[in-house]
Amino acid sequence: MTAHIDDKIETDFLVVGSGIAGLYTALKLGRLGEVQIITKNSVEESSTQYAQGGIAAVLDKGDSWELHMKDTLQAGADFCNEDAVRVLVKEGPDRVNELIELGTQFDFIEGELDLAREGAHSRRRVLHARGDATGEEIRESLTAAATNRENVELNERTFLIDIYVEDDRFAGALCCDHNKDNIVFYRAPYGILASGGCGMAYKNTTNPDVTTGDGVAAAYRCGAEIVDMEFIQFHPTALYDPEGVSFLISETVRGEGGLLRNEEGERFMEKYHEESELAPRDVVARAIIAEGKKFDKENVWLDVTHLDKKYIKGRFPNIYTTLKKKGIDMTVDTIPVVPSAHYMIGGVKTDLDGRTSIRNLFACGEVACTGVHGANRLASNSLLEGLVFGHRIFESIRKDGLRSSVKVDHTGSEQDICDDPCLWGLKQELRSSMMDKAGIIREKDELIEVIGWLEKEMKKIKNISFFNTEGHEIKNMLRVGILICRSALIREESRGAHFRIDHPDKKHGWDNKHVLFDKENPQGYVK
Ligand code: SIN
Repeated sequence: MTAHIDDKIETDFLVVGSGIAGLYTALKLGRLGEVQIITKNSVEESSTQYAQGGIAAVLDKGDSWELHMKDTLQAGADFCNEDAVRVLVKEGPDRVNELIELGTQFDFIEGELDLAREGAHSRRRVLHARGDATGEEIRESLTAAATNRENVELNERTFLIDIYVEDDRFAGALCCDHNKDNIVFYRAPYGILASGGCGMAYKNTTNPDVTTGDGVAAAYRCGAEIVDMEFIQFHPTALYDPEGVSFLISETVRGEGGLLRNEEGERFMEKYHEESELAPRDVVARAIIAEGKKFDKENVWLDVTHLDKKYIKGRFPNIYTTLKKKGIDMTVDTIPVVPSAHYMIGGVKTDLDGRTSIRNLFACGEVACTGVHGANRLASNSLLEGLVFGHRIFESIRKDGLRSSVKVDHTGSEQDICDDPCLWGLKQELRSSMMDKAGIIREKDELIEVIGWLEKEMKKIKNISFFNTEGHEIKNMLRVGILICRSALIREESRGAHFRIDHPDKKHGWDNKHVLFDKENPQGYVK
C-alpha cells in the first residue's frame, strides 16, 4: 500500500505532546508566534492526567530552596546535575504561582496551601488538588488556558512518525493525522519534544497506554544525544493486578501513615531503611520484591486501616473510589501492591534551556534529561520540571529572536506503508521480557539475552513503514528497550534506580560518568 504525503502545515513552533510540559511550553510560546501541538491520543491521555501525589515546591515559610535542593541531590544518589537542580528548586515557586494565577485550584486548609509529605522529602512541600487528582486539575486548567490562546492549536489523534533534520538543524516532522487518515508534514523553525516517557515498555506500569517512548525513539533516529536510559524509576506501590495493568497508589498514602506489610501481616520496612515506608523508592521497591519472594508472592500489602476513615475518603477520593470499584474498601481492607515502572529518568539530553544536541530541537518534561533527577527522581519533582524548563525554553527562544524555517518540503512524495501489523503478541512479549530481565533487579547475562532478542525483533520490522499508530509504537518500544538494556549492561555498578545484582555497590569511578547514544555512537558509549 502507498500513502501520499498530502498536507503541509507551516507553523512557528511544533510541540509534540500534551502533558504539563507540552501544554505549558505551548502556552508560553504562543506569545511569540503560532504553535501547533500534536498529541497522539486525546489531551486527557498523558501521565500528567494521572499524577496523584502532586507538585513539589518551596512555598512554606519553614522550608527553603536549599533544603529542597539537598533532598533532591540525596535522592539522586550523587548523580544529579547540581546546576539543573538549583534552577529547578529556585525557579519552581514562581512557576507554581503562575499555575495558580492561571486558575489551577490546589487544595487549601484553613486558608493555607495544604502541603503533603512524600518519601525522601524532609519537609511537607507537595501541593495537591482534589485530594489525589492533582494531574487532572493541572491538565484541565492548562488545556483551557492553552486552547483559549488564539495562536495555539491542539491537534489530537496526530502521531509523530519522524523528525526531519537539515544541516544539523530541526526542519520539521512527519506525522499521521488519524482524523483525516493522511500523512502530514509539519514545517517549523522550532520543534519541542514533550512526549513523555516509556512506562509501557514494562508489563507493570503506573503509566497510561500512550507512554511508548515515541519521543526518545524519534530523537535517537534523527541523531540527537540520548543519555542515562538505564535509570527507570519503579514506583513501589501500584495496585497488584496479575494482568499487569497497574493503578498508582500514591506515595502520599504512605506519607499520611500507610504501612507496608508482608504476607504474614508483619511490617518490614524498618529492617531495610531508617526512613521505613518513606525510604527512597528504589529501596522500598527492592524490599517489596525481597519480602514477596519469601512467600513466593509478587505483591505485599499496604495498610491504612488504622487511619481515620473519613479522612482517608476525603484525602484520597480518587484512590478510594477506584479501589472500591475493584472490590477493595481501603478503610477496612489492606491493598495488594507491587512495584511498577513509573518514570523514565534519562531521555533526550538537554542543557539548562531545554536545547538538545540538534539545533532548534528542544525537549522538556519526562522525554528530556536535564540531569535534575540524577539516578533517582525525588517524588513530585517531575511536574515541576515540566514547568521550570518549559519556561526556560520560552525565555531562550525569546531572547535569541525567532528564526525562519529550513526550506524543505516533503509533500507530494510517497511512502510504502503496511497497514496491518498484528503485533499485539510482540508487544506483550516485549513488556514481559523487559519486566523480568531489565526491571528492578538486573544481571549481565539476562541483559545480553534480552538485547539479543530485542535487536532480532527490531531487524524484522525496522524497514516497514506503518500507517497505524500501533506499528510505530512497537518499533519505538523496541528501540527504547534496546537503549535501556544497553545502558544497563554498560553501567557496571548499582546506583539509584539502576540495580545490578552482579555489581551491587555504587562505584565512585562511575560518579560522573554517563551512558550516551548519538549519531556517531548508536551502540552507546561512556562519557
Ligand atoms: C505519587 O503520587 O506517589 C507519585 C508522585 C511522583 O511520582 O512524583
